[in-house]
Amino acid sequence: MRSEAVDRLIAGFDRALRAVAGVHEAARPSPALRSTQGELSEEARRHSAALMRVNHVGEVCAQALYEGQALTARNDAVRASLEQAAAEEQDHLAWCASRIRELGGRPSLLNPFWYAGSFAFGAAAGLLGDRWSLAFLAETERQVEEHLTGHLDALDPSDARTGAVVAAMREDEAGHRQTAIDLGAAELPEPVKLAMRLASKVMTTVAYRV
Ligand SMILES: [Fe+2]
Ligand SMILES: [Fe+2]
Repeated sequence: MRSEAVDRLIAGFDRALRAVAGVHEAARPSPALRSTQGELSEEARRHSAALMRVNHVGEVCAQALYEGQALTARNDAVRASLEQAAAEEQDHLAWCASRIRELGGRPSLLNPFWYAGSFAFGAAAGLLGDRWSLAFLAETERQVEEHLTGHLDALDPSDARTGAVVAAMREDEAGHRQTAIDLGAAELPEPVKLAMRLASKVMTTVAYRV
């Protein structure tokens, strides 16, 4: 008889492969479908595709982070919340992937690398205990929210479809942050927040191009 932990590991591995291969299906339809697209210049289209590639990488990382944390979470309520948030992140992943396709772009070639790094980070955070693991999560979601706000400003105003996706994701991320806080997230020390900011700067800069 297989143990529950092994089952979780196998299911997690399956989700990892799907995340990296970009074959997720969204449970909720993409918000892009609710907006009509204005005329986009070639430059704006390329810029939007690159921004969505960055967001897609962010969502690949979110999958890995949640996966790593759920694996090491000690408390069942915490694990259940992590899994619920991870399901919403799967929608984000699918929405980003389909918007990249619509814009004629492509996902990051480095996705397996991003996934592996974030998974290790999530598992390590989980080993510190739920309070700290949730602290990393709350801070990650806060930084993602800020980052998405930056994208909403950076997008060509006529790209309503991309804007709708980014705005909906930002709303979900705010919910994830609140969930982590409600579950008892600690407050990270400032130098740790800064280190996370620097790591995400490297990731977003590289992913915009590759
Ligand atoms: Fe997300
Ligand atoms: Fe999130």
